[in-house]
Amino acid sequence: MDHLLPLSRVAKLVGTSRHALQEMIRSGTLDTFDGMVELNELLRAFPDTKWEDDAEFRRITEIKERAFGKRVFERALPDKEVLAARLFELGNEYAATKALLMHYSQVLSWLDEKIDEIEEDQNKETRHALHVLRAFIVRHLAEIPPDAAKVQALIAQERILKIMSAHVTIKPSGHEFIVESNDTLLEAALRAGVSLDYGCSNGNCGDCRARLISGEVRKVRAHDYVLSQAEKDSGVILLCSCAAVNDVVIEANVAGASDIHQQQLVVKVKAVEVFNPQVAALHLLAPRSQRLRYLAGQSVRLSAHGASGRYAIASCPCEERHIEIQVLRNADDAFSQLLFSGLNANENIELEGPYGEFVLEDASTRPIIFVAFGVGFAPVKSLIQHAMSLDLAESIDLHWLADEAGYYQNNLCRAWADALDNFTYITHASTTEVETTLANIVNDYPDLHRFDVYAAGTAAQLQLAKRVFLKHGLPAQQWRAGATDA
Ligand code: FES
Repeated sequence: MDHLLPLSRVAKLVGTSRHALQEMIRSGTLDTFDGMVELNELLRAFPDTKWEDDAEFRRITEIKERAFGKRVFERALPDKEVLAARLFELGNEYAATKALLMHYSQVLSWLDEKIDEIEEDQNKETRHALHVLRAFIVRHLAEIPPDAAKVQALIAQERILKIMSAHVTIKPSGHEFIVESNDTLLEAALRAGVSLDYGCSNGNCGDCRARLISGEVRKVRAHDYVLSQAEKDSGVILLCSCAAVNDVVIEANVAGASDIHQQQLVVKVKAVEVFNPQVAALHLLAPRSQRLRYLAGQSVRLSAHGASGRYAIASCPCEERHIEIQVLRNADDAFSQLLFSGLNANENIELEGPYGEFVLEDASTRPIIFVAFGVGFAPVKSLIQHAMSLDLAESIDLHWLADEAGYYQNNLCRAWADALDNFTYITHASTTEVETTLANIVNDYPDLHRFDVYAAGTAAQLQLAKRVFLKHGLPAQQWRAGATDA
């Protein structure tokens, strides 16, 4: 029987990106069947991979996790019921394989007897031919195939991945992701940058209803929302309450910016992080019962003590209840004044949103250029984390054009560049000659038409940048901008 592996699992096994695998498929160096890779094809396409030693793969994963900071997984093991179900399934597979081997062994001894029986009445040539056939079978059964150790190590790795995680395919969008640790399907989707429909995230509203097409799920979180019998019979599940036992296919809606309704919630100040006298981050915590639903790159309105302002979100939806806002010191902005004069931990802030359509074109596999003017880094940071989670862009280049606030998260950007082969970080000093700086940037991209460009800054900066990029051959539909003074 063919042993077929989904692309996301292959990417984990060989320690590469899904984009790199898709490039191999496009160039004909990796064959797939129904979007899956057969085990022998994997061995052929990656002959030098050391399947018995995943130390390198673990090292890269650890570096990536450190670079993401708050995305470190706290709960490494699957839910115990899910783990038990996966082990039971593995035990069944083992039993079926063993039974099949016993059957083959029985067939071989029958064959041996049959040859004995036939041999008796045959002439010399036929007896010789039967003798050669028997010797051939015995020799090949005794021989260990040259690739046996590799195949065994690869299957062992793949089995461990199957015990620790499950693969999810979303229909009709075709998004794929892996569910690890004791994450629910919704949590895993958000970590992977897939924006499925949801509301409360704790089993009360029913907004995360989806239909299980194949595979098995298990309820791992209590929920109060009641699914009707007809819904249950047709495979409807709550994504925020279920984990995948094995590889599953689910029918669910992946939301765009216009699908997400406006929300109002009261969040708490977790911390104020002052990067330098010009810019600070406000770390907020949404209530357990009402998380903010948004897409990377969107913004929110914050109000407290009679002051309010609209700011881009710097965190990504994968950070669950945590929301980060970055605010520039501004004498004309009352909320900025409030933040810099001191907001206490646990203070309540009213939050409205999300707003804006400065979001990632997540079906695109084009290389990406991000351009951040000053504190325009905030939405860009959110988008970069989303792009990294999707793992589809050929490459990501970040150009940060500093203002008086400087490169206030320089270390984070350097950590991304160190951890990811396809990430480049370039800083551009503060200058009055912004147009010259932009012209120097585009001159490094003779094939600009291949890229998606995401830029964030003031409306005036964006207008100038758009003119320069389009003049140098960027198609207008591949330009996306988020104004920080909107
Ligand atoms: S998000 Fe509300 S029930 Fe799942």
